[in-house]
Amino acid sequence: MRRPIIVGNWKMNMLISDADEWIAGLLKNSYLTEALDIVVAPAFTSLAVLRDRIEKSGIKLAGQNIGQEIGGSLTGEISATMLKDAGCSYVLLGHSERRQYFAETDEIVNKKISIACNQGLNIIFCVGESLVERNNGRTNEIIEAQLSSGLANLNLIQLSQLAIAYEPVWAIGTGHTATPDQAQDVHLYIRAWGKKLFGTNFAESTRVLYGGSVKPETSKSLMNQSDIDGLLVGKASLKIREFCDIINSLF
Ligand code: 13P
Repeated sequence: MRRPIIVGNWKMNMLISDADEWIAGLLKNSYLTEALDIVVAPAFTSLAVLRDRIEKSGIKLAGQNIGQEIGGSLTGEISATMLKDAGCSYVLLGHSERRQYFAETDEIVNKKISIACNQGLNIIFCVGESLVERNNGRTNEIIEAQLSSGLANLNLIQLSQLAIAYEPVWAIGTGHTATPDQAQDVHLYIRAWGKKLFGTNFAESTRVLYGGSVKPETSKSLMNQSDIDGLLVGKASLKIREFCDIINSLF
């Protein structure tokens, strides 16, 4: 049985003062962490503040990125160790916005996943096709290519720290949530791919999240699909009320 997981990705939004008020709202629902993982991925600047607020609540913190080296002279970058130091147990990697706007290749994503695994972080590895790719019937091919390159040379122990997020690029920030059937089809494909490459245990234990315009109105029907284990929520996570409605829609 895979434990459900709901992740809020704030992207480049929210100030420290916003974070403080937001987390107060979420803490009222923190008893739900007995039943599912609730993870927040704020901007780096809000991490330490949130770490102090969520202490012993069961809520978890994620970084939105790490640098591609363990440490050193890389001005402006944040290392996996720094994320852990700031209270993170998770990191998002391979997000399409990083691929699109920061030229992150599959090779870079693979390197970051490897570093994050070795530093003991749980990884939420994002994959997803563009609209043109979907319309050309290339969804599975694109997903498989991203998975194969992103997870190259990782062993089963490292892979046990992995969750995969299917985030179709055409659904991110557009208001067009994938239908539960569309998402389920790709999740099933991802699981079948995982089984072929890494075996039944990996396929059955690895959580696969859906992300892309998730809203309180769409969260339940998505989570009702047998291969959707969690949600990666962008815009709707910025309003604590909506984020809590998404969490509560599962019960
Ligand atoms: P939206 O929920 O705003 O579409 O963003 C999804 C996303 O990219 C989460 O990582």
